[in-house]
Parts: sequence; C-alpha cells; structure tokens
Amino acid sequence: MNHFLDIHKTDRDELRDIIDTARAMKTARAGRPRGTPDDAQPLAGRMVALIFEKPSTRTRVSFDVGVRQMGGQTMVLSGSEMQLGHGETIADTARVLSRYVDMIMIRTFDESVLLEMAEYSDVPVINGLTDRTHPCQIMADVMTFEEHRGPIAGRKVVWSGDGNNVCASFLHAAGQFGFDLTFTGPPPLDPEPVFVEAARKAGSRVEIERDPMKAVAGADLVVTDTWVSMHDSQSTKERRHNLLRGYQVNDRLMAAAKPDALFMHCLPAHREDEATSAVMDGPQSVIFDEAENRLHAQKAIMRWCLGV
Ligand code: CP
Ligand code: NVA
Repeated sequence: MNHFLDIHKTDRDELRDIIDTARAMKTARAGRPRGTPDDAQPLAGRMVALIFEKPSTRTRVSFDVGVRQMGGQTMVLSGSEMQLGHGETIADTARVLSRYVDMIMIRTFDESVLLEMAEYSDVPVINGLTDRTHPCQIMADVMTFEEHRGPIAGRKVVWSGDGNNVCASFLHAAGQFGFDLTFTGPPPLDPEPVFVEAARKAGSRVEIERDPMKAVAGADLVVTDTWVSMHDSQSTKERRHNLLRGYQVNDRLMAAAKPDALFMHCLPAHREDEATSAVMDGPQSVIFDEAENRLHAQKAIMRWCLGV
C-alpha cells in the first residue's frame, strides 16, 4: 500500500520519480484553462475523500482541482461534521471510508490520527498536514527550487524562524534529496531533535546557528513560515513574536545570502511579521510558484499512491 505519510518514509528514487512526473504533467497542460481535463485520465472512476480538521486554502483547492483534472471525483469533508473525535475510533472510520472511496487525504492535529488512519485503511492515505509535518508542501517546494535553479542536491537551505511542521518536512527532504539545511531561530523553538538527527543520519549537513545573518551566508534558498501555527495556542502569540522578531526575513537578511538565493514561504503569511512584503513580492520570491506547484506535485503523489 503506497501511503504518502512523510518524505523520509518514501523511497528516494520514488520521490525523484514523483517530482519528475509532476514537472512533466505541468508542462503537458501548460496554458490550458484550469478546468480542462488532462489528456490522460488516470483517476477516472476514482473517488477521493479530502478530510480537513483544520482550515485550508491551498491544500483544499489544489487537491480538489488535481483530482478533477485527472478524471476523478472528490468529496471534501470537515472533521467537525464527521464522527471523528465524537467517540468512533479512527480505525473504524478508516475501515468504513475504505468501503466508499479509493484514496483519503487528511489534514489533522495529532499525527497519531494520520498514522491510525493509514494503519487501518485499505486505500492509500495522504498527509495533508499534521502538527508535526507537511510533506506535500515540501515536495512542491523541491519542485519549485529545481524549476528555477536546477538540482537541489548539494545546495544550502536556510530555515529562519519557528522550527515547526513545515521545517520538519524540510529536514526530511534534506536527507532524501541530499541538500544541507541550516536552522536559525531561538532555542525554545528549535525543530525536534529527532528530525535533525534523521537528516544528519541520511547524510545531510544540518547546522543550528543562532545569528540569522551568519546563518544565511552562502544560502541558495531562504525559507520561513508563520510564527503561530494552527496548532499553537493564541495565548502564546506574544511570546512567540518576541522570540522570533529577530528572525524576520527582510531585505537586509536576503542581502546576506547568495545574490541569486530564492525566498520561499508555504503561505498563508503574516506580512511584516515573519517576512516583509518587500521580500515576498521581490525578485527572489517564488511563493506563488510554490502554491501552484502544490497542484502538480500532489497530482504526481496521488498517481504514485494509486500506482496509475
Ligand atoms: N500551505 C498550505 O498548506 O496552505 P493551506 O493551509 O491554505 O492549505
Ligand atoms: N506551520 C503552519 C503551516 C500552514 C500551511 C501551520 O501548521 O499552521
């Protein structure tokens, strides 16, 4: 069963194939209206459940459009409208959904929900973000980097800010795609050691540098994300902002990276907090390519999951 649960759980060669497929599919339908079907219809006759226990713009729309372009059908479900969390076990939910649909994408809070869903589902399960990781985003980000700058292997990526779920998937990708990653942020918001160690074990050079100006020296890519994630309590907002203020990505920080360094943010962003509008709308920013590539990367992920 090909579940897409995390980047480090998928074989390196298969990850590479997914990126290559995504780029080929993007090229094949370039310039067409979004609503036109792809020439090939690998998801014809397939039903995909998209379950959201947290809000979403990109993930929701890109999965829905992607399934339709490949000839399949979707149903978008909100966790609160289902029996999830109302006493029925995740295992039973997974077994029931497997009788109705051909694939499940779920965005949830606790990673254990995703893992239990995958364990008991008879159909592929895709991680659409948990509190700990966001693998579909980073597949799109790797694709985006390579479209602009060629192979990501051997490059230096700098993560500035909160060592959160998106950062964790970047660390998984560092190990699998062979790039180096420097984290710069305050100690209380470091990525979990298990993610850092996994990347190092996989051969990636991972450094932690508290001074953001030093961290970005030689960077090919500078990445940040919101300072308060969906799973973070709003009561922590002020403390987080105080801790992270020095890690804002602004023109001064970008000027200390390589002159051709790219800037990424998975969005949604809080402009003038984690990144300035000058950087987000500037010539080094590829944030809207990242958003577009969610569509293409996830189409390739879904084909891999179903083997079609
Ligand atoms: N980047 C991302 O996953 O965005 P959404 O929360 O809008 O899906
Ligand atoms: N770190 C953010 C990513 C949103 C796509 C969050 O989890 O809210």
